[in-house]
Amino acid sequence: MSETLHETHVAPSILSADFVRLGADVEAVLAAGARVVHVDVMDGHFVPNITIGPAVTAAVAPLAHGAGALVDVHLMIERPERYVQEFVAAGADIVTVHQEASPHLHRTLAAIRDAGAAAGVSVNPATPVETLAEARHHCDLVLVMSVDPGFGGQRFIPSSLDKLRRARAMLPPSVALEVDGGVSAANAADLVAAGANLLVAGSGVFDGRDPAARFRELAAAAGEA
Ligand code: DX5
Ligand code: ZN
Repeated sequence: MSETLHETHVAPSILSADFVRLGADVEAVLAAGARVVHVDVMDGHFVPNITIGPAVTAAVAPLAHGAGALVDVHLMIERPERYVQEFVAAGADIVTVHQEASPHLHRTLAAIRDAGAAAGVSVNPATPVETLAEARHHCDLVLVMSVDPGFGGQRFIPSSLDKLRRARAMLPPSVALEVDGGVSAANAADLVAAGANLLVAGSGVFDGRDPAARFRELAAAAGEA
């Protein structure tokens, strides 16, 4: 687990998959080499959209684990601390909460680790990464949102590149750096050069055409080993 967390990987987000054939879509990207499967959980409060929860996470987790991949749960929900145990029980290997949604962030991150998962903290585009000056010592991953969370298929916010550089410079080497939103084959190499090692991609992988081929194209652009 800790090795995968620190390697360069494209993490397909199932938010953009075909939900009627979710298992087949996930199996396709796993067969193409995906080692991190990103699960976007939204509550209609922290973000306007409502998506999926522990039941779908539990359905997908055995496929990911069977292929040696991590289940990367991104909680875009208010008071995420209420659901940590449930998502870890559903198979989450990484649980990421938003700094903006969890005032007692130190306790939340500790709860994630106590439950047996890697603890991630995310910042929205308008939140300076410098707000994690304390939390950086209590987490395993920082997720820089490069779009405002809530929907797939949005345009990458260019200032996120500088934010990633500042994040990488302030984070201990043990903390992974993930970027989420508007990732494409056109910007993947720049994102890696800026310090990101996990690149979440939803519409860039599951756009209705061949997800395995789209994944391989992105992984090559990111220089994924
Ligand atoms: C957005 C989600 C993302 C989303 C990315 O709120 O957190 O993970 O799936 O989608 P794309 O890659 O289409 O921007
Ligand atoms: Zn996400």
